[in-house]
Amino acid sequence: MPTVENKMPDLTGKILHFLHVIALAALLPLVHTQAAAAPAIVEACKACHAEDGSGVGKRIVPVIAGMPAVHIEEALYAYKDGARQCVAEPVMCDTARRLSDENVAELAEYYAAIPRPSLDEAVDEGLAALGEPVHRRLCARCHVPPDNPNVADVLGPPLHGQRADYLRYAIRSYLAGTRENLLDEMKAKIVLLDDGDVEALVHYYGSY
Ligand code: HEC
Ligand code: HEC
Repeated sequence: MPTVENKMPDLTGKILHFLHVIALAALLPLVHTQAAAAPAIVEACKACHAEDGSGVGKRIVPVIAGMPAVHIEEALYAYKDGARQCVAEPVMCDTARRLSDENVAELAEYYAAIPRPSLDEAVDEGLAALGEPVHRRLCARCHVPPDNPNVADVLGPPLHGQRADYLRYAIRSYLAGTRENLLDEMKAKIVLLDDGDVEALVHYYGSY
């Protein structure tokens, strides 16, 4: 027989849903204006990353749209203090060194709020299928896709949907020692990769 007890959750659920809809409706215009209003300092980044963070038309410029703010900040501070060197593009490091803490925070928030764009890169499905298990075995603990709810909490930035040439360049930088690994665990995994694994991973991340 239906009791008050099992009707309660139903009602609570409806109220919660209602509140959720109201909250969303109130937030929407806010989210919208935030995404549209680029901070003035974005002028210093536009030439390479574009205002939408896609870096369209650039070969080794990473996609920074949709990267959680904490990872963007971490990268900018790594350039500022020299843990990451800009071997291929010194202007990136020169620019980072001139940013104030406030600039770093507002740029991170701005680019993080833009969804990761689709790059339409040529993907070899066979290689992508080989890369998936390599990713799962060695990299998945710290690198999840940008739409994963834990993306800001895992240790590494999202690699899925990142530009292929940038990924090749970044992995080579770790192997060559021009980019410092914060974590020994990643270093231990990266050195296990042979050239074939690197290509397979790049196609797997590109297939996202
Ligand atoms: C002259 C081109 C250029 C300009 C200007 C530039 N960048 Fe970069 N950016 C790059 C390149 C190339 C890299 C990869 C550098 C490397 O690690 O060797 C990079 C890397 C980054 C990364 C690391 C991304 C990752 O996946 O780890 C972030 C974040 C970033 N840039 C943000 C910015 C911001 C914010 C600005 C403006 C203040 C800016 N960049 C200006 C070219 C540029
Ligand atoms: C223990 C966690 C961990 C594991 C495992 C790990 N990584 Fe990372 N990865 C990180 C962290 C943290 C960063 C960012 C800081 C840095 O440069 O070390 C990073 C950065 C990267 C970057 C640069 C991304 C960017 O946007 O610039 C690449 C490429 C990368 N990892 C590839 C891999 C691959 C490939 C594997 C597996 C073979 C792997 N990582 C395994 C934690 C990890």
